[in-house]
Amino acid sequence: MRHARTSARRTGACLILRGVLNAYRHVLGWAFERLYREFAWTYDGVAWVVSRGLWRRWVLTVLPHVRGRVLELGSGPGHLQRALQQRSPGSAFGLDRSPFMIAQGARRLRRSGLPASLVRASTQQLPLQSASCDTVVATFPAEYIFDSRTHAEIRRVLAPDGRLVLVLGAELLGGGLPERLIDLAYRLTLQRSTRPTAVDPPLPFMIAGMRLRALWESVGRSRVLLVIGELEPLEDRDGARP
Ligand SMILES: C[S@@+](CC[C@H](N)C(=O)[O-])C[C@H]1O[C@@H](n2cnc3c(N)ncnc32)[C@H](O)[C@@H]1O
Repeated sequence: MRHARTSARRTGACLILRGVLNAYRHVLGWAFERLYREFAWTYDGVAWVVSRGLWRRWVLTVLPHVRGRVLELGSGPGHLQRALQQRSPGSAFGLDRSPFMIAQGARRLRRSGLPASLVRASTQQLPLQSASCDTVVATFPAEYIFDSRTHAEIRRVLAPDGRLVLVLGAELLGGGLPERLIDLAYRLTLQRSTRPTAVDPPLPFMIAGMRLRALWESVGRSRVLLVIGELEPLEDRDGARP
């Protein structure tokens, strides 16, 4: 009897805890959405602070890994778009769900005299033809990167030998107060810690048929976690090899 009561109390406590965590996730989701929308004008400043001024350099670490026709998911304020367009005008296309981010990106490209191939769209429904991209890239992606509809769309728009390039996080190498405060901010917002780890993190998701590999890129006193996904050749996927 006593055992049953203790167990019921524990179950109740677990349910309450789960409810609180879910509510916290909702509040965070709402706050991030505000940052991408009404407060998009503060985004670059916030990113600068939580990266010790390295954010743009972190974003640009993808450049050596992208090739051909490039689609950028969640292009945000457009720094990568500008670099891609400068490198090869007309070869990149960016999309973002937030009209505020699209406007900011377009302004940035216009000011640099570059074509602004940016569109407001969702990663769950890409406005592109099948097999029309050589690279799909996303830096510091939001929740959409865990969505199976986004995965299906990435597969659809990639050419047979296409690749996915992601920046999933970064680690700050100093151990001072600023680094500790930044790490605390990341943890409180349920994001990957920025403290250096000795072991590679397990890749947080799989994309069907895509071989994912992690690699670290050093940037100043930090290192950036890049994930590269490549489509497996058809014969590997079907297990049809002799
Ligand atoms: C953390 S920001 C990253 C922006 C930029 N890539 C960077 O590295 O600074 C995530 C971006 O993804 C966009 N986003 C979130 N969900 C999306 C979705 N389902 N489809 C398209 N864009 C989305 C947000 O509006 C925001 O601009």
